[in-house]
Amino acid sequence: MGKGLYISKSVGITLIVLAVAAVATIIALSVVFHNEKSRTVEKPQINETDQWKSYRLPGTLSPQYYNITLWPRLVPDANGMYIFTGHSGVAFTCVKETGLILIHSNKLNYTLTPEGHHAKLTGLEGAKAPAINKTWLEVETQYLVIQLSETLQVGKIYWLYMEFQGELANDLRGFYRNIFWLLLLLKFVTTIVATTQMEPTDARKAFPCFDEPAMKAVFHMTLIHPSGTVALSNGTKTITLRNQNVLQTKFKPTLKMSTYLVAFVVSEYSSIRTAAETDVLVRIWARRTAIEAGHGDYALSITGRILDFFQSYYNSKYPLPKSDQIALRDFDAGAMENWGLITYRETSLLYDPITSSNKDKEWVSTTIAHELAHMWFGNLVTMKWWNDLWLNEGFATYVSYLGVDDVQPTWNIKDLMVMTETHKAFAFDSNKFSRPLSLPEEEVKTPAQINALFNTITYSKGGAVLRMLSEFLSEPVFARGLSAYLKQFAYGNTVYTDLWGKLQEVVDADPEVNLPATISEIMNRWILQMGFPVVTIDTRTGNITQNHFLSDADSKPSRSSPYNYEWFVPISWMKNGTVMDRYWLLEKNATHDPMKTNSEWVLANVNVSGFYRVNYDPQNWQRLLSQLSTDHSVRSSVIPVLSRAQIVDDAFNLAKANMINMSLALRTTSYLSEEREYLPWQSAIKHLNTFINRFRHTEVNTKMQKFLRSKVQPLFHYLKNITADWTEILSSHTDQYNQLNAISLACTAGVEDCLDLTKMWYRQWMKNPDKNPIKHSMRSTVYCNGIAAGGSEEWEFAWNLYKKSVDDAEAELLIYILSCTRKPELLNRYLNYTLDPNMVQKKHVNYVIRHVANNVVGQPLAWDFIRANWSNILKEQKHASFFTILYFTTKSFSTEVELKKLELFKEEINKAGFGTEALVVDESITITKENMEWMQKNKGEVMQWLKEELA
Ligand code: BES
Ligand code: ZN
Repeated sequence: MGKGLYISKSVGITLIVLAVAAVATIIALSVVFHNEKSRTVEKPQINETDQWKSYRLPGTLSPQYYNITLWPRLVPDANGMYIFTGHSGVAFTCVKETGLILIHSNKLNYTLTPEGHHAKLTGLEGAKAPAINKTWLEVETQYLVIQLSETLQVGKIYWLYMEFQGELANDLRGFYRNIFWLLLLLKFVTTIVATTQMEPTDARKAFPCFDEPAMKAVFHMTLIHPSGTVALSNGTKTITLRNQNVLQTKFKPTLKMSTYLVAFVVSEYSSIRTAAETDVLVRIWARRTAIEAGHGDYALSITGRILDFFQSYYNSKYPLPKSDQIALRDFDAGAMENWGLITYRETSLLYDPITSSNKDKEWVSTTIAHELAHMWFGNLVTMKWWNDLWLNEGFATYVSYLGVDDVQPTWNIKDLMVMTETHKAFAFDSNKFSRPLSLPEEEVKTPAQINALFNTITYSKGGAVLRMLSEFLSEPVFARGLSAYLKQFAYGNTVYTDLWGKLQEVVDADPEVNLPATISEIMNRWILQMGFPVVTIDTRTGNITQNHFLSDADSKPSRSSPYNYEWFVPISWMKNGTVMDRYWLLEKNATHDPMKTNSEWVLANVNVSGFYRVNYDPQNWQRLLSQLSTDHSVRSSVIPVLSRAQIVDDAFNLAKANMINMSLALRTTSYLSEEREYLPWQSAIKHLNTFINRFRHTEVNTKMQKFLRSKVQPLFHYLKNITADWTEILSSHTDQYNQLNAISLACTAGVEDCLDLTKMWYRQWMKNPDKNPIKHSMRSTVYCNGIAAGGSEEWEFAWNLYKKSVDDAEAELLIYILSCTRKPELLNRYLNYTLDPNMVQKKHVNYVIRHVANNVVGQPLAWDFIRANWSNILKEQKHASFFTILYFTTKSFSTEVELKKLELFKEEINKAGFGTEALVVDESITITKENMEWMQKNKGEVMQWLKEELA
């Protein structure tokens, strides 16, 4: 090596490393510098990396209007697939500087531009659109992502245009297809109806959109569809152009609204409508045959009237010129409140006076009222985010009862609400895993989390809590507050505090309303913590205490509460029949002297006006019970009918939670021999059924039956009298329900007259199968009992009808009544028929086993049958069916022997290699253990009480 710098190897390596590091640093610095420069000049300043990983839109853009054209193909393509094609554009304003456009899109395929992008961007009103850098679809978060080379400018409007294609699947989501079979010239042909269900997050499956409720915009819809079909959407149709074989229907722009309310339908339906001079055009759409048969007439007769009721209740005009109601066969929910085009399941809109029951009529009425209520609560004013879904659904639930009451004033529907909503909510909300009505926004992000919110808490507790609010404010004050709220926030979005604010303004302006705290102090306690209180009143001292009510006394709530599980409780109450001033319980414990008494009865939460349960000291319970049993003219009883129902329901639930003895709960049913009203009976039957089922295989059964007979016999005879020996139809809605209850319970309890009656009715039917004198709504109860009281002749008659039946509803009715026989040989024969698809249709197998298991005589037979045939059942039936079959067959197991049998059964399944199915047996094992515990705790006490009661 010649002259030169000599350095050692190690030093050399060090220097090289240093040099590399220096160069790297320089490069890095220059890159940073370059980036900085380019960011300030041409790239977005904000760090927008991975924003598409978040389920929530960043709030940088605000949509103004959409132009959407969709073309559903009602026949399959070459690959046998049903598709739709479309193009849409959205005008949006940039509200925060960004170089990224995130727009929701799910399961849509795009036509790429010549540059290879999914979309085109242009500027509107003089704005210059930056070039698109890159576009792609994010499947998990359901976005089409558009990365721009420069940022959009705040305040400027842009136009994003896309062409795409989607599947018109039969998946009940987004833009989907309905299939109908029509009998044409003795041949079944299928027809397709293309329809939509966007709520909560499926508008993005029909067209790319900013799919959040606060992203309100105006929608300009155009539909392309085959001639011979009608296209409907939210707005009124403007023109239909004919283009060779297809029609192009354009609709008037919608009002400013959320994406989840967009709807469009293409069908061959026909419709009926209100008279031309009405303010708002109301139409009922359905299959032509259903319309011709008059099944839409009832809906038409009430829809306009309910709409009018809400216009005056909310003091706010319905803002659209039309309201279409359309009946669909394949529909996931019961109905959907799309603005101007409400979609329904067929059974929620159509009513057949001949075959439908008054329960069906009630359902149709409540559903229509519920959806119409949304036209204001939900559509005009919308929750900002899904965490406040209860503002939509709780409201619609509550006011739907007011709407129905207006068109059916004799139904007492407002009282029925306590059973259908409040009691349902009590049951759900007394579990430690319940949740607050309003959740923190961050807890609700993914479509799955949003979907999970549509539950009993949102609907029933939401409705019940609003009913309480309206009760303590009074209906007129409440309605005035709502009206002010709707006016201020029309076409906008809100959080629940906005509602409290408006109600507070009305309260502050009204000297008549006296509240102990602000609306938000009172109401936040009801919506931000799960559960509800049980208020215990001790009339010996006047002490009042509240505790979080949990049906399992040993459990602890699964979340903590900002209010320590204490509520501000409005206590409406009466003393010996006199209504007293409302008392507000604002602490855990308080004393209210007027409640102190040792001779008068105190009844609190009169008419269940509050969302809580009540317990008393034993003496007051005793006084209430004697009031109930001495109050003989019950129809005008001092204790109102809802409170009578509530006393029973509270007592059984308090007993379940170990707060009072089971015998005290049972004593609340002693007076039932005097009771003639539906609500208290219904309340009691729900609980008594648990007892009937649990004890039916034990020595308690005979006494239980005798007790039930003594209670229900007077009701049965009362109804027999007022119907002139069952020849006249009861005019009252609830009396009709009561009649079903009475017949069902009287026959179960073996009331001779009832057995004779149903047997006689059944015989009449057998004599003349085509002329059936029994009302449809009574058929299943009457025939079930007719078969139970009869023999093989009665059974064979129904079996032959089943073999011939073509109608689904009829077949299901027959499947049920066949399970009611008390003859083991017939039940065994019936069970064995399920192994042969020529005898029992596959889809009915599950029902047969379940129904047989529900029959006292059938239960052990069904269990033996399952043990002998389980692998066959598993092979033929879905996993879920196996689960329900097993559940129904073993749900009354309550002995050590039965537990052992289940454990052996589990082993057998396990050994055969069916791990998951063995887990299903675990459920039954848990239930059996709970039943054993319940038996141990209650059997002796119930037996003792029955002995005394029957003495
Ligand atoms: N907005 C709902 C429909 C809905 C439910 C959409 C679940 C998405 C998910 C509609 O207003 C509704 O509440 N329908 C009820 C019927 C109503 C009478 C209680 C339903 O579908 O059960
Ligand atoms: Zn609803």
